[in-house]
Amino acid sequence: MKALTVQPLTSGSARLEDVDDPPESDGPVLVETLAVGVCGTDIEIVSGEYGWAPPGRDRLVLGHESLGRVLEAPAGASVASGDLVVGIVRRPDPVPCGNCAVGEWDFCRNGQYTERGIKSHDGYCSERYRIHPDFVVKLDRNLGPLGVLLEPTSVVAKAWEQVDRIGGRAQWDPHIVVVTGAGPIGLLAALIGVQRGLDVHVFDQVTTGTKPDLVQALGGTYHTGRIEHSCPHPDVVIECTGVASLVFDAMEHLGPGGVACLTGVSGGKHAIKVDASMLNRGMVLENQAVVGSVNANRRHYEAAAAALVAAPRPWLERLVTRRVPLEHWSEALQRQPDDVKVVIEVGGP
Ligand code: BGC
Repeated sequence: MKALTVQPLTSGSARLEDVDDPPESDGPVLVETLAVGVCGTDIEIVSGEYGWAPPGRDRLVLGHESLGRVLEAPAGASVASGDLVVGIVRRPDPVPCGNCAVGEWDFCRNGQYTERGIKSHDGYCSERYRIHPDFVVKLDRNLGPLGVLLEPTSVVAKAWEQVDRIGGRAQWDPHIVVVTGAGPIGLLAALIGVQRGLDVHVFDQVTTGTKPDLVQALGGTYHTGRIEHSCPHPDVVIECTGVASLVFDAMEHLGPGGVACLTGVSGGKHAIKVDASMLNRGMVLENQAVVGSVNANRRHYEAAAAALVAAPRPWLERLVTRRVPLEHWSEALQRQPDDVKVVIEVGGP
């Protein structure tokens, strides 16, 4: 079968090639891949900056944002032939640590977890894959091709859960949310904020095009300036860029008792000047919390599926700005100015 593979940490090594059928050891559920979304992590892997091949191998099958249709499943499994499904990305570590042992692999404590398409386990960008029923999530059929948005939505569903849990340490009635970055993660974080009835403000650099339009269509407010000028003291910040200056800006301007959740992963080294004493003083005197959040467990995939089903369909459709056939995969990995979510079409319909 065809698969998009890469030699991790080797720039320019990605290629479409014939690989063996998925191994039975990956699980009894056989899935036909329909589509795979592309995100910043994939671009980093293809650029040779991130990623691990499976043990004893040089190459990794790419792709962790998937959408597929079940071809075969054992009797009595949670999914059946014909179901629309998404594969969970992370697998618990083999020890397992306390968190992995209870299905909270997104909080793995020993770093020995694996991630499909990222860390030591083949991804989903192949014509078929196999999976254990515990790691496959069944989608509402009506979502159709938009189901490919489930994995990035699971990441923000987890971020919102962190905000809720930390906010809940005292009386918690947030109103104003700042989201930094209007990429797919930022826009999906904004969607969940709007679904909760919050006043959502999204900050990005572009002044025109799909991103401001999508924020307005949601009922949010789009800004290009600085947080301190247009939206000081939000109750919640969801940081989705990983840009160091924005991360500290968000921390510095958080409201009293506010929660800032960092989801963007910074690339490389980038030193900036920060007044650490003032930051510390503000955080202590105002009970602020800053939390990092990565990945998602099954509970977050399920919350994400509910958020997508409740979202306006035309809005979700506009989030997917390009669909590229598998043969032209390299076009999907080259960023274009008005891209939001780019999807590689692997099979289907
Ligand atoms: C994925 C996460 C993963 C993280 C770090 C993100 O792009 O969505 O599932 O945990 O990268 O590898």
